[in-house]
Parts: sequence; structure tokens; C-alpha cells
Amino acid sequence: MSLTKQSDFSMTATILAVDDSPDTLELIRRNLELNGHAVYTAGNVQQALDIIDTVEPDIVITDWKMPINDGLDLVKYIHSHYPGLGIMMITGFASIESAIQAVKSGVEEYLPKPFTDEELKNAVNKLIIKVKQRKTLAKEDITTISSFGLIGQSTEMHNVFDLIKKSADSNATVLITGESGTGKELVARAIHYQSNRSNSPFVTVNCSAIPNELIESELFGYTKGAFTGAIATRAGFFQTANGGSIFLDEVSEMSLNMQVKLLRVIQEKEVTLVGSRKSIPVDIRIIAASNKNLKRMMESGLFREDLYYRLNIVTIEIPPLRDRKDDIIYLINHFSGRFAREAGKNAPQFSEATFELLLNYDFPGNVRELENLIQRLSVICDSDIIHPVDLPVYMRSIDIKAGNKSIKSLAEVEAEYIYSAVELTRGNLTKAAAILGIDRKTLRVKLKKYINSKE
Ligand SMILES: Nc1ncnc2c1ncn2[C@@H]1O[C@H](COP(=O)(O)OP(=O)(O)OP(=O)(O)O)[C@@H](O)[C@H]1O
Ligand SMILES: [Mg+2]
Repeated sequence: MSLTKQSDFSMTATILAVDDSPDTLELIRRNLELNGHAVYTAGNVQQALDIIDTVEPDIVITDWKMPINDGLDLVKYIHSHYPGLGIMMITGFASIESAIQAVKSGVEEYLPKPFTDEELKNAVNKLIIKVKQRKTLAKEDITTISSFGLIGQSTEMHNVFDLIKKSADSNATVLITGESGTGKELVARAIHYQSNRSNSPFVTVNCSAIPNELIESELFGYTKGAFTGAIATRAGFFQTANGGSIFLDEVSEMSLNMQVKLLRVIQEKEVTLVGSRKSIPVDIRIIAASNKNLKRMMESGLFREDLYYRLNIVTIEIPPLRDRKDDIIYLINHFSGRFAREAGKNAPQFSEATFELLLNYDFPGNVRELENLIQRLSVICDSDIIHPVDLPVYMRSIDIKAGNKSIKSLAEVEAEYIYSAVELTRGNLTKAAAILGIDRKTLRVKLKKYINSKE
């Protein structure tokens, strides 16, 4: 599978490369810098230790055989002193035994020399995902739940949190836009519950769910006898929300006639019950949301211009999930933790290959789609690790759909799967074979084939 789309994923890292060959170091530096990483280099283990202690990189790539101290010493030091750091070993002396020894010492990626630019890039990307995952788990639920259940660490979501906070403090009308499932309702709630209206009602009105002929009486209320069936005077949503906030979801669906009436509420801060002439003052904060482009609707005459500008005092635009891929890992951890707690189970882990597929997927249904997926996986998967086969077929076949010819071969997938079992069991071949459902001898044969094919 190609990782080209992964470059959209804005995750870059600080990386230290250690090798006694200046040429190799230069090669690695060029490749990594081209991919946006900050790169430090060291020609020996002592220099490497100094750099690690001062800059604390996310990842260390180290050669194995070096004069004085070798790479394995460095690996052991890092493993015990900086457990969160990702370690990759590059070596010209690859064998099953050395690979297993490396894995046992704490190496997470193992790349035989010589390697191509693509191989290095892929291995680094995988390691970044692991490191990021560990960091997320370490600070889970502390910094991520930033705003009333809204999860997000991306710059885009930080902007959203910022706007929520600023608009909560004011009384301004807020328009929230974003594709379906991006969290518009959550944002609206966050604004209300962070504002000084939080002890008063938050009333949600889904403008597309109420038939046009009923919306006026629902919003404004009616007097007894105003129409057939109006057997008693009833308050509308605006009055119910008095003192608090009203959330007008899918506001684009309001008829032009209703739009005029809404404009009046905003301007005059009063409502008139259907069947009455008397206006009643209301004190409400209006929050509206739309997944349609209101500006375009306004330009084609489907949405009133004056109302558009009235609603649009503060606009909060929630970007689609595919444009803030940094959030995916945090959302997965949040949802899998939540569903596991609900089911009284342990939260499953996601294999890197699964993460890669999820990062490459476009999520047309945004966070809602991801949430539903994790819920489904939590219910149907018995194993502790979620593998790509557990994902729906359309998520696994994105590369084929995109016409990308560089889909992984079966042998590559097998090799990766085997390697992850060896890694998971920290080199215990008997346990790894049991996980894989093959005997130990077959595992050795396959490992040998895999490592030879990389040489
Ligand atoms: N940043 C987030 N953190 C945690 N959960 C989120 C986040 N964004 C969305 N969700 C969850 O995703 C689901 C969809 O969110 P929400 O209903 O707010 O989206 P929406 O934009 O209003 O969608 P629609 O346009 O379809 O009404 C909800 O279950 C919500 O809890
Ligand atoms: Mg909604």
C-alpha cells in the first residue's frame, strides 16, 4: 500500500539518526527533511546520548555495528531511560537472530541496509504512529477532553475551541458550519454550557424535522383557538429557551417566510404567539447550524441576506475529519475507551496497519462515521487487537479505488503480520507462532524468507 496520502497527515517528528558512516547519515537526513521532519545526526553513541538528553527526540534511528559502543547499547539505554521514544535499527548484518535480539532490546522497526527512500519513509511513518499513540495514551482524557466532550488536538480544533470560548463569553449569535457528523451540535452545546446561561435551558430545534406548516407554532407558540386543534395556549421553543440558548439546527431548511420571522426575533428580541398580537420579550442566545453553504444559498436567493448577516456575527467552521487527521488517533482512543467501559471490557488496541488504513480513509461521514465504526468493532471483535481484516471492505480497498497500483502484496501483508506477532511477544517465537496459528518451525522458515527477501 502506498503511504503517499499519508503526507496529508500533518504529523512530523524530531528524529535523531546515529551512524558511523557520514554518507548514510546524509542520506537519511535528506530523506527525512524532505518529509518535513526535524533531523539531528550523531556519528557515535556518546554524541547520540548528549543529543537525546538535550533535545529529547521522538524517534532514534540507529546503526547496529559501530566502533566503541554499538547500537544495541544505545537501544538499551533509551529503552530504560526514555520509554516513550521510538527506536528503529538499521543494519547491514540482518539475520533472524539479530532481528529477534533487536526486538527484545526494544527496537520497534528494523530495516536491513541498503534501504530505499520509500522503505525508510514507510518505516518512519509507522514508528511515528506508534509514538504518537503512546503519547496519547499517556495523557489520555487530561488534555484531550478540551471542551465538553469535544476531542481534538489538531490546530483546526484548537481554533474551534478558541472560538467556542470567546463566543461563550459574549451574547453574539453564532453560526456553526460543517459537513454532516463534524460535531456541530456538540459545539453548540459547548458554547451554551460554557456561557453564563448554562443554568438556563438549551433548546434544540431541528428545522428540517418539523413540517413547514408547524414550524411557526412550534417556535413561537400559539394561543387557544388560534387554529383547529389549538385547545390551549402553548409556549413555543423561543419562550422555553428564555434566559438560555436556542439551537436552530439545519437553519437552511427554513422557508423564506419563516426566515423573516426569525429575523424579527433577533432584531426585536420578542416573539408573538400565533393567534395573538401581543409581543412577549425574550432573552435568548441564538446558535444556528447548517451543513449547507448558506452564503451560496443567499447568493441564489434561497436564504435571506439580512438574516445571513445577522446569524453570522461569529462563524465557527468545523473542518471535515479528513482535513484534521491528527485528531483521528485521539478520537479512536476516546471512543474505544468509552465503548469498552460501557461493555465492561478492555479497550482493544489497533494494529499499525489498521491505523494506516484509517488515516488514509476519507471519512465522508466524519466523526459520526468513525464513532459508529469503533462502536461496531468494539462489539464484534473478540481479539484484543484490531487488524485490517476487521475493517469494512470499503475501507480496506481505498487504494484500489484510487487506482493506486502500489497495493501491498499478500507476501508483504503476511510478512508484516508475522513481524507484528514477533514484536508483540518480544521475540518469543513459541508465543508468536501460537498467535499466528502456525507451528514454530513454519514461523522460523517464514521469518528467514522474509529477512532474506529484504537483504
Ligand atoms: N470532536 C469530537 N469529539 C468527540 N465526539 C465528537 C466530536 N465531533 C463529533 N463527535 C460525535 O460525533 C457524532 C456527530 O456529532 P454531531 O451530531 O454534533 O454532528 P453534526 O455536525 O451536528 O452532524 P449533522 O450535520 O449530521 O447533524 C456525535 O455522536 C458526537 O458526539
Ligand atoms: Mg447535527
